[in-house]
Amino acid sequence: MAETTTGAAALPKGFRSAEQGWPELHRIPHPPYRLPLLGDVLGASRTRPLQDSLRHARRLGPIFRRKAFGREFVFVWGAGLTADLADESRFAKHVGLGIANLRPVVGDGLFTAYNHEPNWQLAHDVLAPGFSREAMAGYHPMMLAVADRLMDRWDRELAAGRAVDVPGDMTRLTLETIARTGFGHDFGSFERGRPHPFVTAMVGTLTYAQRLNTVPSPFLLRRAAHRNDADIAYLNRTVDDLVRARRTASGDRAGDLLDRMLETAHPETGERLSAENVRRQVITFLVAGHETTSGALSFALHYLSRHPEAAARARAEVDRVWGDAAVPGYDQVARLRYVRRVLDESLRLWPTAPAFAREAREDTVLGGVHPMRRGAWALVLTPMLHRDPEAWGTDAERFDPDRFEPGAVRTRPAHTFKPFGTGARACIGRQFALHEATLVLGLLLRRYELHADPAYRLRVTERLTVLPEGLRLHLERRRTSHAEVPSEARCPAHGAGD
Ligand code: HEM
Repeated sequence: MAETTTGAAALPKGFRSAEQGWPELHRIPHPPYRLPLLGDVLGASRTRPLQDSLRHARRLGPIFRRKAFGREFVFVWGAGLTADLADESRFAKHVGLGIANLRPVVGDGLFTAYNHEPNWQLAHDVLAPGFSREAMAGYHPMMLAVADRLMDRWDRELAAGRAVDVPGDMTRLTLETIARTGFGHDFGSFERGRPHPFVTAMVGTLTYAQRLNTVPSPFLLRRAAHRNDADIAYLNRTVDDLVRARRTASGDRAGDLLDRMLETAHPETGERLSAENVRRQVITFLVAGHETTSGALSFALHYLSRHPEAAARARAEVDRVWGDAAVPGYDQVARLRYVRRVLDESLRLWPTAPAFAREAREDTVLGGVHPMRRGAWALVLTPMLHRDPEAWGTDAERFDPDRFEPGAVRTRPAHTFKPFGTGARACIGRQFALHEATLVLGLLLRRYELHADPAYRLRVTERLTVLPEGLRLHLERRRTSHAEVPSEARCPAHGAGD
C-alpha cells in the first residue's frame, strides 16, 4: 500500500489547516487560554476529543474553531449553517482527519475514497443494488438467525443470574449480521468469551486513527504504529482468506455483497472491482457495517431501560403489530413505527458516527457570512446539531421519541437530523442498519423486560464512533405466549449455515 502510518507524512493527504482556507478566520470564536505554538490544548482530552468539542460548542456557539499543535479546525453545528453545508452544489464530502487516517487500512474503499477517485463511483454503482428492498428482504431471515443467537446468549446469562454486557453483545450481533449477510461468514462471536481477534484488530485501528489527531507528531505513537501495522496485516489476512474461500467454493452463488464485489460488472462501463479494491471494500463493510449499528442499539437499549413508559409503548406496539407470529416477516418490521422513533431519538442524542466533514467545491461564503476558499472544510458536529434549540427546542437534552412523529418532523427545517451524513456520500447502509436495529429492538422488547442498574451513569467511549461505556442491563423474561416460544421454533433460518 502506498500510504504509511509511520513515515514523515505527518498530515494525511487532503489535510488543510483552517488558516489556509478561511480568509476571515478571526471572526470565528475559539476557546479562551490559547497557548502560542500549542493551541487550545489546556484541559483537552486525548481519549474523548468529541466530548471536548461538544463542551466548547456549548460555550462558543454554532461555528467555532480549535487549534492543536499548529493544526486548526473549524466546527459547525448550527442548523442554518449545516443546511448550507448540505448544499451539494457548493459542498462535498471532505476526507480528512480520522477518515483520512484510515486510508492505510482501507485506501479508496467506499467510505474513505476521495471524491475524485474513480473507484468510488464504480463501487457505489456496483454495490448500491445490494441495499435494495429486494436484497434487504433476502437478508431478513439471516438477521433473524443472528438475533436468535443473541437471545440464546441472553437466556443463558439470565438463567445464570448475570447482567448482560450490552455494547459487547450488540457488537457480537452486528458483526455476525454484516459478516453473514454480506459475506456468508461466521466469526463465531457468540461462542467466544472475548471479542473475535478481527474486532480487536479493528478497534485497534479505529482507536489509532483517532489518536493520530490528538498528538503533535505521529512519531510519538511509534510503538502504537507498529501495533497498528500488525492489526492491518491481520485484517488483510482474514479478508483474503474469506475471499479465497469464496472464489474456490463450488455450487450456487449466495448473491450477497461479496458475490457482487467479485462478479458484478458496472452496468454501463462493464468495469469490475480489482482484487485490491475488493479487499478494501470487504474491510470497509465489515467495519462500517457493525460499529455504528452496535452503538445505536446500545444507546437505544440504555434509553429504553431508563424510560419504562417508552419501553411499555414500544412493547405494546410490538405485541399489536407482530401478534402471535412466531417470527416477524420482513414487512412487519417497518410497521414498528414507535420502535423506530425510539431508535431515531437515540441516534439524535448519540449519533454513533458523530461528525462528518464538508469541503467547498469552489470559493464560497458559508451562511452568507464566512468566506471559504475552494477546498476549505468544516466538521459538522452532529450531536450538537441534534441539540440545536432552534430546531429541537430548549429541552433538546430530554429523550422524547415523539419528536419523530410525522407531524413534528414536518415542522422542522430540512437537514436538522443527519445521523447518516448527507448527499452523495451519505451512508449506503442506512436501510440495512435501520431494518436490523428495529428488528432486534422489537425481538428484545417482545422477550424481555429491561432493568437498568440504578448506579449506572452514561459515559461515552470514543473511537471515531461512540458507544455507551460499561452499560449492563438486568433482564427478566416476559410471561406471554410468544415470548415463550422455544428458540428452534422462533426462526426458520436458525442454524442454516452456522
Ligand atoms: C446506525 C448505523 C450507521 C450510522 C449511524 C452510519 C453513519 C454513516 C455516516 C455519517 C456516513 C457518512 C460519513 C461521511 O460523510 O464522511 C456513513 C457512510 C457510510 N456507511 Fe454508514 N452508518 C451506519 C450503518 C452502516 C451500515 C450497516 C453499513 C453497511 C452495511 C454502512 C456503510 C457505510 C459506507 C460504505 C459508507 C460510505 C458511503 C460512501 O461514501 O459512498 N453504514 N455512514
